[in-house]
Amino acid sequence: MQDTTQKTIFLSDYTPPAFLVENVDLIFKLSPNETRVISKIRFVPNPDAASDVFFLHGEHIKLLWCKIDGAPVQPNVTDSGLTCAVPNKPFLFECEVEHAPQTNTALEGLYMSNGMYCTQCEAEGFRRITYYPDRPDVMSVFSVRIESDLPVLLSNGNQTAQGAGWAEWHDPWPKPAYLFALVAGDLRNHADKFTTKSGRCVDLNIWVRPDDINKCAFGMGALKLSMKWDEDVYGREYDLDLFNIVAVDDFNMGAMENKGLNIFNTSCVLASPETATDANFERIEGIIAHEYFHNWTGNRITCRDWFQLCLKEGLTVFRDQSFTSNVRGADVKRINDVLQLRARQFREDQGPLSHPVRPDSFVEINNFYTATIYEKGAEVVRMLKTLVGNAAYKKALDLYFERHDGQAVTIEDWLAVFQDSTGRDLTQFSRWYSQSGTPRLTMHEDFSEGTYTLTFTQNTPPTPGQDVKQPQVIPIAIGLLAANGDEVLPTRVLEMTQEKQSFVFENLAAKPVPSILRGFSAPVILERVTSRDERLFLLAHDADSFNKWEAGRNLSREVILDMVLNKAAPPADYLQVIGQLAQDQTLTPDYRALLLQHPSQDDLAQSLYESGHTPDPMAIYQAVQDWKQALAQAPNTNWAAIYQSMIVEGPYSPDAASAGKRDLGNVALLMLSRLDDADQARMQYETADNMTQQFAALNALLSVNQGQDQLHAFERQWATDRLVMDKWFGIQILQSAPNRTAAITRDLTRHPDFDMENPNRFRAVFGALANHQAGFHHPSGESYALLADWLIKLDKINPQTTARLSAAFQTWRRYDTARQNLMQTQLRKILGIETLSGDTREMAERILG
Ligand code: BES
Ligand code: ZN
Repeated sequence: MQDTTQKTIFLSDYTPPAFLVENVDLIFKLSPNETRVISKIRFVPNPDAASDVFFLHGEHIKLLWCKIDGAPVQPNVTDSGLTCAVPNKPFLFECEVEHAPQTNTALEGLYMSNGMYCTQCEAEGFRRITYYPDRPDVMSVFSVRIESDLPVLLSNGNQTAQGAGWAEWHDPWPKPAYLFALVAGDLRNHADKFTTKSGRCVDLNIWVRPDDINKCAFGMGALKLSMKWDEDVYGREYDLDLFNIVAVDDFNMGAMENKGLNIFNTSCVLASPETATDANFERIEGIIAHEYFHNWTGNRITCRDWFQLCLKEGLTVFRDQSFTSNVRGADVKRINDVLQLRARQFREDQGPLSHPVRPDSFVEINNFYTATIYEKGAEVVRMLKTLVGNAAYKKALDLYFERHDGQAVTIEDWLAVFQDSTGRDLTQFSRWYSQSGTPRLTMHEDFSEGTYTLTFTQNTPPTPGQDVKQPQVIPIAIGLLAANGDEVLPTRVLEMTQEKQSFVFENLAAKPVPSILRGFSAPVILERVTSRDERLFLLAHDADSFNKWEAGRNLSREVILDMVLNKAAPPADYLQVIGQLAQDQTLTPDYRALLLQHPSQDDLAQSLYESGHTPDPMAIYQAVQDWKQALAQAPNTNWAAIYQSMIVEGPYSPDAASAGKRDLGNVALLMLSRLDDADQARMQYETADNMTQQFAALNALLSVNQGQDQLHAFERQWATDRLVMDKWFGIQILQSAPNRTAAITRDLTRHPDFDMENPNRFRAVFGALANHQAGFHHPSGESYALLADWLIKLDKINPQTTARLSAAFQTWRRYDTARQNLMQTQLRKILGIETLSGDTREMAERILG
């Protein structure tokens, strides 16, 4: 009988560590199948401890020997760690352990990827390297010696000595074990330098496999831009003489902020014009910034425990969003961030996985690196900034860095710096951290004798474990427009604190048109019944670029839902307006491209569900196809002219302006392909000198059931480039007819280059399957079964990535009984696996409810 009961950890059970670590010396004798790690750890009893029990975490490692103050001891060892009797004073703990990085396919702890050793310790991977108090509130100074014949041996901090077959490193900054890193391999470096504002000269390196050395320049530029931005905007300077980034092929996440030695998934750092798209370039820039920014928000100031994860992740996402909006343009960045938030976080919040930004309990911490912690966490920081204002935000952040540098802190500490520096009481605001669910905002207008009254009501529906919700502080940015489109009241922020609350505006000549929730000032759902005329008015006149776009988006949503539910045709006046906007030279191309996007099929399914219908993915798919065809034929819209006017002359550059033109040009190409038998797309494919244009052309061809020759040519051309081949795997699934999606996916798993041990490749295939709304939810149930079968296979080698992908099933309750039954059957099949990992078990159980 196996034990399937899992231990739940509660925030309320937190106790300070019994012992603190003064410093730790590690010696690594690297070997694929028998790596040895010798540790010397100086422990001191913690004066604030609640207990004196000495416990060190340790998993999947073999203890060879162990000493305390030089004397051999026999600790009590279990699957999760060791305990032993220790003196009630400072002492030296020493031990040696053995493990096999070669067979570590979970990619946590020390593992191998294409002959290179690397580590991933967040959240709880260090305990797979050696015995240690593996919790973020134990911070210590690390010294590391690496012994290996590989030419490049790296760890945190500065290199202090090296010789043939060894290197020694020392990191002067105390850190928790989750920020430890080690890399060893046959690597090349792209080197550069950065001088900080106080004159420190920092050596910068991006380390890659020899073949990838020509894909580092853009990442290096992004790193220098990030370092400068953090100095200019947050006053934060880098604090070591060396900053290393390493690119690794096999990585569960995007990237990791280890002190002085960031480790990146190759997909999140390597870029060249021929192999990376504009979207890849933008993401790489943002993720390099994100990991760099963690040096202060995460590393110098870290989390007391993993319940406080949003303290570093929410804040750092907010910081990387601000960076990108400065570098590439605020309007489009905000829209893209809200699109992401709604697609990922709202979806999570509306289903069985809903949880607060700071959860009260978890089973497997890896399952809590969620859209809620990251993206809603960033929205909460953004709201704080909106409420206190820019100057007070800056003052509060300065106090945060001054007061908590070198500490492991909590959300209470974070809020206290705002309270102390602004005098504002944040008790009610703190509900954003403890209440789960997305608040719904409704609005009522009243106008009489020059007085305009807006009355808002807030309501958050129950979520798992939280039946009753209290009102939250909602910053509602609004503006008022006159009938001629002029703004009669420029943007101002209303602070809603009650369940129902009115705001009065006096001395207005006539009833205005309100523009509500400008810039998406709070992560809420505005439930507002508006006439089509009002949406068209705001689309034409709103001075707030977010709400202008939002008006267009809601119009498109209504049109497509009407097509789904009533088989209506898209109205001619609507098509005309959208077509006009596509050609409106007063708008930037990237913004126009966003106006031309329809709500995703998943989003449409959720809209139907929320309005009391049972979504039919096949009907949604068909409606979206018909909508695209109608838009391609929109009156007075010359897609060929738009396409021509968006051609970017000269050598490829990934800057925002050029990328925006390519973006709109490629929307035009999709439309044209429906009209010209895909001639233009074929031409673009042949002549493209960069991946953005080549891949967009391939996509356009496949979208009209052509392009099989190009698909083969693409495969031949890029056979040796793993990251480009990931695109090739994904696009065939995403562009498949829904009744073929499962079969095509299955065929691709038989392709010689399908490698389930590589998370990027597995995600390219099964992420695409899960994202093909109609293909995944095809009534045959084939895709559900295929995904479940492969999740079961992957779980045996990589539980973390399996658990993340299992979230594909989280929307099962939206659908009809037949689909519900099919999905439940698959979830139960997964849960029936006796040896299922705790990660995946927790997810499947929570999803089933
Ligand atoms: N600290 C995380 C990486 C991480 C997450 C390690 C979960 C272990 C478990 C890193 O800072 C991060 O957040 N990376 C994101 C990308 C970022 C731009 C939001 C990722 O990897 O997806
Ligand atoms: Zn992060």
